[in-house]
Amino acid sequence: MHLTISPSILNCDIADLHGQLESISSADIAHVDVMDNHFVPNLTWGLPVVEACVKTGILPVDAHLMIEDPDRWAPAYAEAGCESVTFHVEAAAAPIRLAREIRHQGARVGLGLRPATDIAPFVDILSEFDMILIMTVEPGFGGQKFLESMLPKIRRTRDAIRSADLPVSIQVDGGVSRQTIEQCAQAGATNFVAGSAIFKAEDAYTEIATLRELAGSHCH
Ligand code: DX5
Ligand code: ZN
Repeated sequence: MHLTISPSILNCDIADLHGQLESISSADIAHVDVMDNHFVPNLTWGLPVVEACVKTGILPVDAHLMIEDPDRWAPAYAEAGCESVTFHVEAAAAPIRLAREIRHQGARVGLGLRPATDIAPFVDILSEFDMILIMTVEPGFGGQKFLESMLPKIRRTRDAIRSADLPVSIQVDGGVSRQTIEQCAQAGATNFVAGSAIFKAEDAYTEIATLRELAGSHCH
């Protein structure tokens, strides 16, 4: 599976969105967190800002929807040109129907799991998704501490994907840094979201390269 570094722009300088996206252009995809103050206790932005990111053409966009009623809202993000759209299973009324709708709009689709949500109920429907997002913090804020207790879930997800021989990638999001990325890669993640690690670094370019190298030595 292709190793992907996906900087989260959650805490970037939003007044300079274009410049901030340029500063991470050596990454694979930009991770854009949509929060509605209901699914999580924080509010960010919606479709117009995500569309603006897509329109810059600097990087493909990975939309992470931390919102209630994704059945209603998620397809528009695919239609807007996001390369991938991830919704949370805890919020979706009909995850299979929604996944198919997102794919039908031409995007890759991700299934997001909060830390306390197990992968077990979804192993039989993995083929409906291109990516499983395993949250490694409680969603809502950047800069939180990585939850090591998520590593067994990453491994179980990897094993389920392998035994079904599916082209599904595992994304980790939350507290991913130089200190934690290798454990994630060892457990089976190939898609790494990092917010503060990249935007608080002195030089985003170097940080992306370092994270890529650390993860790459464990991904196979
Ligand atoms: C948190 C968001 C993350 C966040 C990660 O709910 O989904 O994408 O920006 O930030 P760090 O890497 O600082 O934990
Ligand atoms: Zn995110």
